[in-house]
Amino acid sequence: MTDSVTLNDGTTIPQLGFGTYLVDPKDAVETVGTAIDVGYRHIDTAQGYRNEAEVGEAIANSGIARDEFYVTSKLTNSNHLRDDVLRSFDETLEKLRLDRLDLFLIHWPLPTRYDGDFVSTWKAMLELLEDGRLSSVGVSNFQPDHLEQIMDATGVAPVVNQIEVHPYFRNESARIASHEHAIAVEAWGPLGQGAVLNDETIAEIARDVDRAPSQVILRWHLQRGDIIFPKSMRRERMEENMGLFDFGLTEEQIARIDALDQGANGRQGPDPDTFDMV
Ligand SMILES: NC(=O)c1ccc[n+]([C@@H]2O[C@H](COP(=O)([O-])OP(=O)(O)OC[C@H]3O[C@@H](n4cnc5c(N)ncnc54)[C@H](OP(=O)(O)O)[C@@H]3O)[C@@H](O)[C@H]2O)c1
Repeated sequence: MTDSVTLNDGTTIPQLGFGTYLVDPKDAVETVGTAIDVGYRHIDTAQGYRNEAEVGEAIANSGIARDEFYVTSKLTNSNHLRDDVLRSFDETLEKLRLDRLDLFLIHWPLPTRYDGDFVSTWKAMLELLEDGRLSSVGVSNFQPDHLEQIMDATGVAPVVNQIEVHPYFRNESARIASHEHAIAVEAWGPLGQGAVLNDETIAEIARDVDRAPSQVILRWHLQRGDIIFPKSMRRERMEENMGLFDFGLTEEQIARIDALDQGANGRQGPDPDTFDMV
């Protein structure tokens, strides 16, 4: 139903998944259950979203075999010390009711916290690969110099860098640095958290290809090779966001969307160099 991307450790990940940021725990069993019913098998959650237990319940309720799913979670900002990495990973598995997680990410680098030492956090993440309960390890919101630091220290590249990317903020410096090291890019906030949906250029292209604006934006991501997991609370939007594999954008249409980039002004989320919420 969706294409796959091969990661630098030889594993594969569905290019399209379902995001769960701001899916309130009280709604999450039903919402994630609907997404699974619609056909999503790749689910992106995080310790910080406080809905891992509900995501796990929805997966268990589905009755679908574990190996049909690709599940990602992320280490939250208060858990960067080694013992907290190991302990909280156990909790994540327990909440998700899984005996193996597909992908675990450092959620934010926090260069102004923990004496700027995200290298030790990365080393602890690599320890998690040793007992078979974690398949792949990656990072999120890492800037080019953050990537260099963890790779210089360990020689191990993350499989993905999950960063803010959408037409208003293409984030090319972090994308290019990731690609230089065969790190796949996961584009969070692929719809600009909704901000790009009413754009006039997107509306024109949507009319030309007879698709919804959301589908034009998401198709742009797919043709650039990035991995995406749009979030919606609504079934019809979940379905719309999956309908991406039976049409294409021309190079000219992609270039027009590329031109919407506003650089750092287009960011919807915080700057990873200064974000320090713990
Ligand atoms: N690593 C990180 O730091 C980080 C940060 C942010 C997000 N993420 C991940 O990336 C995922 C996606 O990002 P996001 O949730 O922030 O934003 P997003 O997917 O870009 O946008 C979600 C917003 O778009 C609306 N929407 C979705 N599909 C739509 C459609 N077809 N038509 C109209 N509106 C639509 C949703 O509204 P409704 O829900 O009301 O439909 C919601 O308001 C997250 O859920 C999370 O898994 C990671």
